[in-house]
Amino acid sequence: MKTALVTGGTGFIGSNFILQARQQSWANIINLDLLTDTCNPHTLAELGHDAGYAFIHGDIRQRKLVEAILEKYQPDFVINFAAESHVDRSILSPVNFVQTNIVGIFELLEACRAYWQNLSLDRRSQFRFLQISTDEVYGSLSPTDLPFTETSPYRPNSPYSASKASADHLGRSYFQTYEFPVLTTNSANNYGARQFPEKLIPLMITNALGGQPLPIYGDGLNIRDWVYVEDHCAAIFLVLEQGVVGETYNIGGNSEITNLEVVTKICEILDELAPNPKHINSKYTDLITFTKDRLGHDRRYALNCSKIKQDLGWEPKESFDTGLLKTVQWYLANSLWLEQVQTGAYQTWIQQNYGTLEYKSAK
Ligand code: TYD
Repeated sequence: MKTALVTGGTGFIGSNFILQARQQSWANIINLDLLTDTCNPHTLAELGHDAGYAFIHGDIRQRKLVEAILEKYQPDFVINFAAESHVDRSILSPVNFVQTNIVGIFELLEACRAYWQNLSLDRRSQFRFLQISTDEVYGSLSPTDLPFTETSPYRPNSPYSASKASADHLGRSYFQTYEFPVLTTNSANNYGARQFPEKLIPLMITNALGGQPLPIYGDGLNIRDWVYVEDHCAAIFLVLEQGVVGETYNIGGNSEITNLEVVTKICEILDELAPNPKHINSKYTDLITFTKDRLGHDRRYALNCSKIKQDLGWEPKESFDTGLLKTVQWYLANSLWLEQVQTGAYQTWIQQNYGTLEYKSAK
């Protein structure tokens, strides 16, 4: 069986990827993760007795550590999920984004390039480094613009997206300069199980269940394309196995929708599955509030995914409605997981980002 080094594998997308990889016996997995405040360290507890899974607590910037891991485990794939990923946090404090997302990939690329150069010819030709990136590197679209393709220019607008764009450029340069086998995937907004409740969908589920306001930035008409995390992971397997080195692949969900519609749908599902017994005559939509807009808030993201469809035969299986229902069901069934992440650090973040905002009820 092959071996994959996954960085940031305790985070949202990484943990879903590792669970799928182990369930399908796709590869043995080494997970190098720093366990920052934005992940649940218990997320992969179910793999505790899996001999094909190893966890290492550490930072991708520790080159010596990464070199030792590569030497010991001899991976066939390195998949870089390790990233600071929340736009709002990047607005309040960009420094970690530069450190983790840019310096981090640089250190990782250097360690991996040295390892790859010493592999046998056969293993060298099979080795892949995959950079997990975002559609946000392309900037923002107007309502009538065509969706981004892989050749759209990079126009990042937030410190977060700028750091991811820099990382993608470093990856590209290692392929162009050293022929180091880098592939890049740029995905739409992900949603699904195990997402930290600072992002729109799990935040709204968490707040609604706690009877807290549902804070919608600006007019709520910003549009995102949403891809269900398991569909995203299925695409990653294909890119690793069949993708062409040096190429980039867009991964979207064919699900463009405004934030207000997303939150309304969550409320409707919760009214059905978990009506608040204390408020017989009220609906979760009553909690919707409008707040000051996010600084530099991108209006619309949309991805043209015909390349991955044509070249690798990938399409999302979930519609936004089916994926959202599964997501809400997961959070309802995993209240312990949610409790585990609502620590002091989480409360501090909520206070920092929302504490001083003025709320306007939607009513
Ligand atoms: P988010 O989940 O932070 O992802 P991204 O900014 O990377 O797209 O936000 C998704 C959208 O939801 C984005 O347009 C901002 C908006 N949003 C709110 O309106 N309120 C919130 O509390 C959050 C976290 C996001």
